[in-house]
Amino acid sequence: MSRIVYVNGEYLPEEAATISVFDRGFLFADAVYEVTSVLEARLVDNPGHLARLRRSLEALCIPMPLTEDEIEAVQRTLIERNRLQNGIVYLQVTRGAADRDFPYPKKAIPSLVMFTQARPLVDVPAARTGIKVISVPDIRWARRDIKTVGLLAQVMAKQKALEAGVHDAWFVQDRKVTEGSSNNAYIVNAAGNIVTRRLGNEILHGVTRSTVLDLSKQSNILVEERAFTLEEAYEAREAFVTSASIFVLPVVEIDGRRIGDGSPGPISRRLRALYVEAARTGENQEENATSES
Ligand code: PDD
Repeated sequence: MSRIVYVNGEYLPEEAATISVFDRGFLFADAVYEVTSVLEARLVDNPGHLARLRRSLEALCIPMPLTEDEIEAVQRTLIERNRLQNGIVYLQVTRGAADRDFPYPKKAIPSLVMFTQARPLVDVPAARTGIKVISVPDIRWARRDIKTVGLLAQVMAKQKALEAGVHDAWFVQDRKVTEGSSNNAYIVNAAGNIVTRRLGNEILHGVTRSTVLDLSKQSNILVEERAFTLEEAYEAREAFVTSASIFVLPVVEIDGRRIGDGSPGPISRRLRALYVEAARTGENQEENATSES
C-alpha cells in the first residue's frame, strides 16, 4: 500500500511527491533532518527532536519552514493517515532550490519533506541478543553536532559492518570512540559507571542520550561524560548504543572481542526497559526539550 507523504504543504501519495533537481539538499547535502520514533501511535521525545532541528537550522542560517507546533501537527496527521502504530517519522528541511552555486542563495525557499516508516521498535531480536560492532576511522566532517543529511561516511561505515558480518560500526578518532554510525556509544566500566563522550562538535547531541542519562541518574547509576578508548571498551563490563530508531541496544562484541560474558548486560537491559516505559507514558519529554536546546 502506498504511503501518504508530506511535501511543502501537501499530503500526497508517495508516487506523486516530487522535489526539484535544483534542490540544494540534492546538490550539496545542504539540508538537515530529524527522526522521531512512534510507539503505539505516540511520538517519542519529540520536543527534543524539534529543539535540535531548530538548532541545526540556526547553525546553517536556514529559516524554520513551520513552527514546532505546526511541524508536530503534520507529524500527527501522517501517523493518522498512514495508520502508523510503530515506526518512525522522518523529516528533512533543505535550503530550497536555486541555480547551482556554492554560497547561500538569497531567494531560496526552504523545502520540508516528511514521511513515515513502519517498523517494530520494542520486540526486536537485537534487544534479546545484543549487536556486534566493528571500529572504523571517523572520517566525517568536524560539525557532527549539526544533523545534516551529508551521511556518506555513515553509509560507508554501515556497509563495511554488513560486509564484515556484524550489525554496526563505531567511529574512532585519536584512539577514542566518538559514537556509533547512527547512534551514541556507551560502556559500563569495572566500577559500574556509564562512560560516554561529552557533548561537543565531535558527536551528535542525541535526544535519546539525554533521556537515557536522566534515567541512569534517577537509577543512581553514575555517569562519566568523557571520551573512552577502544581498549577500555574491549575490557568493559557492558556496552550499548542509543538512538531514536533503536532506543537502547546492548553491544556484545566489538572488533571480534566479546564484551562481558557476550550477552546483554543488566544495566543495558534495565535502561532499555526504563526507556520503553518512559516512551509509552510520555515521561521526560518536556525536560529533554529544554536540556537539548
Ligand atoms: N540517527 N549519532 C548519530 C551519528 C546519529 O545519526 C544519531 C541518530 C544519534 C542518536 O541521536 P538520537 O538519539 O537523537 O536519535 C547519534 C538517526 C536515528 C538516523 O540517522 O536514522
